[in-house]
Amino acid sequence: MRAVRYVGPNRPFVMEDVPEREPAAGEVRVRIRAAGMCHTELHFASGLLDLGVCPVTMGHEVAGEIDAVGEGVNPERIGERVLLYYYVGCGECEWCERGQENLCANLKAEYGFFHDGGYAESIVIPERNAVRLPDHVSFEEGAPIACGVTTAIHASNLAKLQAGDCAVVYGVGAVGYGLVQIARLRGARVIAIGRTPRKLAYARELGADVTINAAEVEDVAAAVREATDGRGADVVFELVATKGTMSASTAMLAKRGRLIYIGYSSDTYEVHPIQLVINEVFVAGSVGNTLDELKEAVSLVAEGKVKTRVDQVLPLDRWQEGLDALAEGKVLGRVVLKP
Ligand SMILES: NC(=O)c1ccc[n+]([C@@H]2O[C@H](COP(=O)([O-])OP(=O)(O)OC[C@H]3O[C@@H](n4cnc5c(N)ncnc54)[C@H](OP(=O)(O)O)[C@@H]3O)[C@@H](O)[C@H]2O)c1
Ligand SMILES: [Zn+2]
Ligand SMILES: [Zn+2]
Repeated sequence: MRAVRYVGPNRPFVMEDVPEREPAAGEVRVRIRAAGMCHTELHFASGLLDLGVCPVTMGHEVAGEIDAVGEGVNPERIGERVLLYYYVGCGECEWCERGQENLCANLKAEYGFFHDGGYAESIVIPERNAVRLPDHVSFEEGAPIACGVTTAIHASNLAKLQAGDCAVVYGVGAVGYGLVQIARLRGARVIAIGRTPRKLAYARELGADVTINAAEVEDVAAAVREATDGRGADVVFELVATKGTMSASTAMLAKRGRLIYIGYSSDTYEVHPIQLVINEVFVAGSVGNTLDELKEAVSLVAEGKVKTRVDQVLPLDRWQEGLDALAEGKVLGRVVLKP
């Protein structure tokens, strides 16, 4: 089958022919119908995210249909529409026991990172990692749930986001749109920050109370203070994390505010501890999601409470076009590949 693969830092992805696998005991094979393109793939391509494993098939937002099952799996699952949970924990460590497989230190798989992912025609995974996708959610709108929406839920949980909080979403891409909607559902007031008017307009459509165009204001932190009567934001979700955004994000926190890093760039975070001390603020990172968070994300989309936004659907062999559009900031939501 064809697969789009990471072949090392600073090298373009390549399409290769790779063998298709048969499912072993406890596994299912998913015929891939849609795979979302996450900004994380740009970090692989640029060499920023080098996990030391290659070649590896990219893609961790995967939707498809089970077409074969291994021993011990109910054959009635053949034909089931599913989404991929991209972590396979060891099942034994303290994090797996707590259901926090995203922190497992002995991962058996992380598809699209250390193990072959979804920019391909099929993928073989443990049956537990194939989460049912309701019939009325298309594969294309379903795929971006698996990272775009799940990451938003996980980060909101870590931030202990609650009703009445003021939440800033700094960077309105696919994960940002997930965050705008999750934060609204939790009763937070949402300020979305971006640089492209049509992306900010869509954030408002999804429920953002205030939008700030960072390209138009001189001091983004001051603009947030102004929008919050001087108080600042209880939670800031950082999806950009360049030098300028990181210092603004820190400066816009309210007392006891929580800054949650989701995105990263090649820049490092510099902060004087006094700035953290005097405001008693918290700085944390958020990675991935749990299986339960994926199930919650699927339910929210199925119930129409959260939407994913697909900018365009491309055939698998035009992956480079999708990556280029994402790198150039031209994508509203997600590009989805279709094998
Ligand atoms: N921790 C995790 O588990 C996890 C999961 C998924 C993704 N991520 C990371 O999270 C980040 C976002 O991912 P994504 O897929 O949502 O990316 P995305 O779709 O590319 O969205 C990022 C958005 O940020 C905006 N932006 C860029 N520079 C900006 C600036 N200086 N000020 C304001 N806005 C700016 C861009 O739009 P404009 O510049 O046009 O406004 C872009 O739409 C990436 O770093 C990705 O690797 C982490
Ligand atoms: Zn992702
Ligand atoms: Zn584990």
